[in-house]
Amino acid sequence: MNKIEIIQADITQLNVDAIVNAANNSLMGGGGVDGAIHKAAGKELLEECRLLKGCATGRSKVTKGYNLKAKYIIHTVGPVWNNGTQNEKELLASCYKTALELAVQYQVKTIAFPSISTGAYRFPFDQAAKIAEQTISAFLKAANTIEKVYLVCFSEKDLHQMKRAIEK
Ligand code: AR6
Repeated sequence: MNKIEIIQADITQLNVDAIVNAANNSLMGGGGVDGAIHKAAGKELLEECRLLKGCATGRSKVTKGYNLKAKYIIHTVGPVWNNGTQNEKELLASCYKTALELAVQYQVKTIAFPSISTGAYRFPFDQAAKIAEQTISAFLKAANTIEKVYLVCFSEKDLHQMKRAIEK
């Protein structure tokens, strides 16, 4: 059975062990999926995030999920797209890899990722989708405690585009 599933959803509503947040270096909240997660999780999330003292691009850090159904939020910081000149592809792959490493460490069995860096950070959507799928697939070959990874698209358009990009 394929452990990776592409779905359309609001990631804040999912009943999974962990959701991943596409955060920024401050980890102090923002717009997009980050804003939605902070709003849904509640004020305590910001208090825990403050203690983390930020996060480097391509790295990930864990907090509790507070008011979410998810037990954990894995905050990762995607690269800002700069025409591929700043190691963006490697940094994006590192977001998926470091988030999955933490998932294993925290005994997460089900995890949902948004399409990291493809909103405000302008990473080309199709390339980002391929990097996500390839990095997760490679990781799952060596990590058998994770049962399901959801790649979450916010819109129906993104859902179709991601499926097309990954099939190519
Ligand atoms: N559920 C699932 N996906 C969502 C949701 C949601 N509720 N809301 C948005 N998306 P973005 P980035 C999708 O901009 O590009 C923030 O201000 C959205 O359609 O949230 O990594 C941070 O604080 C898009 O495909 O994240 C940073 O400053 C994807 O999530 C910066 O934005 C990512 O879009 C990070 O930019």
